[in-house]
Amino acid sequence: MNDSCATGGAAEPDLSDTVTVAQALRRALILVVDDEPANVKLVQRMLASDSYANVIATTVPEQALELVRARPVDLVILDLNMPRLDGFAVMEELCARGAATAPPILMLTAQHAREPRVQALRNGARDYVTKPFDREELLARVRNLLEVQLFHKSARLRNDVLAEKVRERTEELYQTRLEIVHRLGRAAEYRDNETGLHIIRMSEISAVIAATSGMSAGECDLIMNASPMHDLGKIGIPDRILLKPGALDAAEWAVMQTHTGIGASILAGAGHELLHQASVIALCHHERWDGSGYPDALCGEAIPLVARIVAIADVFDALTSERPYKRAWSVDESLGYVRDNAGRHFDPTLVAHFLARFDDIVAISRRYADAAPGAATSTPQGRGPLAG
Ligand code: C2E
Ligand code: SIN
Ligand code: SIN
Ligand code: SIN
Ligand code: FE
Ligand code: FE
Repeated sequence: MNDSCATGGAAEPDLSDTVTVAQALRRALILVVDDEPANVKLVQRMLASDSYANVIATTVPEQALELVRARPVDLVILDLNMPRLDGFAVMEELCARGAATAPPILMLTAQHAREPRVQALRNGARDYVTKPFDREELLARVRNLLEVQLFHKSARLRNDVLAEKVRERTEELYQTRLEIVHRLGRAAEYRDNETGLHIIRMSEISAVIAATSGMSAGECDLIMNASPMHDLGKIGIPDRILLKPGALDAAEWAVMQTHTGIGASILAGAGHELLHQASVIALCHHERWDGSGYPDALCGEAIPLVARIVAIADVFDALTSERPYKRAWSVDESLGYVRDNAGRHFDPTLVAHFLARFDDIVAISRRYADAAPGAATSTPQGRGPLAG
């Protein structure tokens, strides 16, 4: 005896400003639950007489819960005394679904004892109508409950729309910031590394080493986005030094080393993590595990972990790249340098992580390869005073 019947599309009520409250009310989805088919028909007739277009009904209380779960019901008209699952039990389960989204309940009661009604009101029913119903009273109570329900629903919708807008704007700001940061990194590399592919490769390689070291996805993301600015300070290095085709003399080398501090001070003092980390990386990416690096000759774990990671990715990729002062090294030669310098230039634990993921790292090198003819066959060249 499933008397469930839908008399309309029961779409979400359209709460845009072009719909009047009266229209929205008439589109609301009302569920009638009463084990007496005659009662169901009576309530349906009353609702139809007042132009409610979306009324569904059932004489099987268990089905009420399914219907409310499956459809965006705005109001439940619920008979209090039914066999098997009575109105109280139905109410309890409806309310257990979460007060914020549960539809209001208008209970039908023929009882003249006040006790069950008060109990029902306490247990979650919003209002009641006594049988036999007065049409005007039923319709008035239905309308009052629906008005409140639709008001809450439209407020929820508006909140959702606002939250979505805020989320979109936040995402947009984040993307804009990332883009600016990447372009800053590119600007820094533009003179000695015109394609900008070095910063893409070294930042992805940094993220791979970070992931293998057990950093969270968020931390890997951060290092990936902060590391492109490691050489921002090259902006402050004159062309005659940065683009010098040969080895630097001592004075030139002293100037060259200032690119760490220059980059760090451009990035310092920012209020958020991305630029802060970028500043740390800019300052410390030429420190060496054995203390022979610059600018502060830090040793071992005194060097920030992110800078130790970036150092490996940066040198490996600088070696495989062509520079004004050097030819590109082959992947094998570059790998040899990293391996041989574990514990000297580089953190040995991180070198082990790097070697463990070498296939992925080579894949990154290939994916973003500079179009440099002969790169794979060039031989390593000494670099005067700096040759490691
Ligand atoms: P870069 O070209 O981006 O190189 C980054 C790092 O990769 C270097 O840091 C070094 O650790 C490693 N690297 C790059 N090429 C070689 C190489 O041929 N042999 C060895 N052993 N390591 C290499 P480093 O040495 O602190 O240099 C920092 C920056 O100073 C370099 O960035 C580059 O812009 C500049 N630079 C270094 N050496 C020379 C040079 O001989 N001539 C010129 N014109 N610039 C140099
Ligand atoms: C009925 O079960 O239909 C009448 C009892 C009530 O609603 O309180
Ligand atoms: C009461 O208001 O509690 C009794 C009146 C009625 O049952 O309609
Ligand atoms: C009607 O259906 O309009 C009358 C029902 C009632 O008032 O009890
Ligand atoms: Fe550098
Ligand atoms: Fe670099």
